[in-house]
Amino acid sequence: MPQNLLALNWKMNKTPSEAMKWAETLASQLPQTQAELAILAPAIDLPALAQKLNGSSVGWGAQDISQHESGAYTGEISAAMLGDVGAKYAIVGHSERRLYQSESSQIVASKAAAAINGGIVPIICVGEGLDVREKGEQVPFTLDQLRDSLSQVPVLRADQMVVAYEPVWAIGTGKTATAQDAGEMADAIRDALRGLYREYAGDVRILYGGSVKPGNIAEICAQPNVNGALVGGASLDVESVVGLAQALA
Ligand code: PGA
Repeated sequence: MPQNLLALNWKMNKTPSEAMKWAETLASQLPQTQAELAILAPAIDLPALAQKLNGSSVGWGAQDISQHESGAYTGEISAAMLGDVGAKYAIVGHSERRLYQSESSQIVASKAAAAINGGIVPIICVGEGLDVREKGEQVPFTLDQLRDSLSQVPVLRADQMVVAYEPVWAIGTGKTATAQDAGEMADAIRDALRGLYREYAGDVRILYGGSVKPGNIAEICAQPNVNGALVGGASLDVESVVGLAQALA
């Protein structure tokens, strides 16, 4: 069984000085946990996190990555740049980027491949909207999105990528999928990964995200194919992160 990952998506919150203070507070209160912790921060915060967290057990990374290696792409940040400051992870294909930045699964696939080629582990997000869920089509929808988002990803080792199932209707709404729903989707994702990556599929971490809190994380992550959580709102205060890590332990 892969080690659980508690991935904290700060979204567009915290300035570099706030990030630095936050990391200091976390380091002083870090609970014993079996899970790996990773902070996904705005890119400008990463040097501050590097300064405070390098050498600790807490990992960190970005919320997006360029699909290109280098060149005339104003505003973009490459895998090499992230790696140079010590980032380990990058979220790709978060539903907010699919929606507000019009990222297609083809772009997500290129970003995931660019991350892996540059030594960054992509956390590849997939999940259905409310309209799809209401029609009961969440499994085929999510698996199609997954296959498209992985279409350029030549995984050689299971630890080179993470998949996050985030039903869009559960993000930031306080509505969570039931643990059973999350578990069923994770089972379906695992099967699809087996079809694509055979022996590596068993060790790819599958996260659930969408209104995860200290009070519901344990039940969700107890599902056999759920290997951790991607947490937005509840990742912003240290106290709540300590609660999440303790609940997961
Ligand atoms: P939420 O966000 O925990 O605030 O629902 C999760 C996410 O968007 O990754």
